[in-house]
Amino acid sequence: MRAIFVFLLILGVFKYALAEKEFCSAASVLRLESETKPLYWKVDNPTLSPLHLQDLPGFTRSVYKKDHALISPESHVYSLLPDWINTSGAYLITPEMGSHFVMYLAKLKENSKSGLPLPDVERLIFVLQGAVTLTDTPGGSQLLKVDSYAYFPPNFEHSIECDASATIVVFERRYVPLPNHVPELVINSTDKQPLLETPGEIFELRKLLPTSLAYDFNIHIMDFQPGEFLNVKEVHYNQHGLLLLEGQGIYRLGDNWYPVQAGDVIWMAPFIPQWYAALGKTRSRYLLYKDVNRSPL
Ligand SMILES: *[C@@H]1O[C@H](CO)[C@@H](O)[C@H](O)[C@H]1NC(C)=O
Ligand SMILES: *[C@@H]1O[C@H](CO)[C@@H](O)[C@H](O)[C@H]1NC(C)=O
Repeated sequence: MRAIFVFLLILGVFKYALAEKEFCSAASVLRLESETKPLYWKVDNPTLSPLHLQDLPGFTRSVYKKDHALISPESHVYSLLPDWINTSGAYLITPEMGSHFVMYLAKLKENSKSGLPLPDVERLIFVLQGAVTLTDTPGGSQLLKVDSYAYFPPNFEHSIECDASATIVVFERRYVPLPNHVPELVINSTDKQPLLETPGEIFELRKLLPTSLAYDFNIHIMDFQPGEFLNVKEVHYNQHGLLLLEGQGIYRLGDNWYPVQAGDVIWMAPFIPQWYAALGKTRSRYLLYKDVNRSPL
């Protein structure tokens, strides 16, 4: 009897050791992946849509409804951007959906150059892959790498250029002026932005633009560890454009629950109930447009 017990005990320890080992090797694969791949590589990576689903006739995770949309990477359609040189773009959120802003991905190729936004339209760009050069800025030319961004106030002359290849996400909207407040050019990077207080929540929050009244929108960078989720089930007047930069999870939009992953884009109309839970094995990070500082009237 005792011999059997000792045997079972040894077996148990052995199994435990085996499990530990598997766990360690899984963790080291993850570590290896994050060490060797550039930041946000999944946003741009075609392996995102599993092969067996990519080829499934008629299959897409994309959804378009009255008050929200999920646009997964296999649905992106690129065409030449008007006024840009050697650049193709995919408009993912536009006023036809009900938004007051546009959100698009722009792929800059060799010897490419941006066009200007329409009159009175402000623009924010965020680099996802490669690097772009801003010319004609007060400090001369500036190189923007992955995780860097620039905000151009309305009617601000600028040029975004690239001599190799780069992917950026762009937000544009018609600026809503406020007397005695003037927005300024902002050039910076996510990692330089301080973590902000998030009372009652555990995710990490950074804001890319100053919170002062001159700015009528902001871009939030929100980080969740696997298993973390939003405490508040928000319903609010603001609208959102979201790009999932890293990780996987479940997004609740109204009565719909969507599995989402890096590369997915979400449009949220005002007042749609919204909630996120991070799952998967690595951090979730998303970038979120939000209109702020202006009366809804
Ligand atoms: C686009 O890129 C090609 C290849 O680098 C270059 O030869 C061409 O001049 C560019 N097009 C324009 C309109 O500049
Ligand atoms: C970048 O942002 C940080 C934090 O907001 C700020 O302290 C710093 O001055 C900014 N850098 C530039 C070049 O504006």
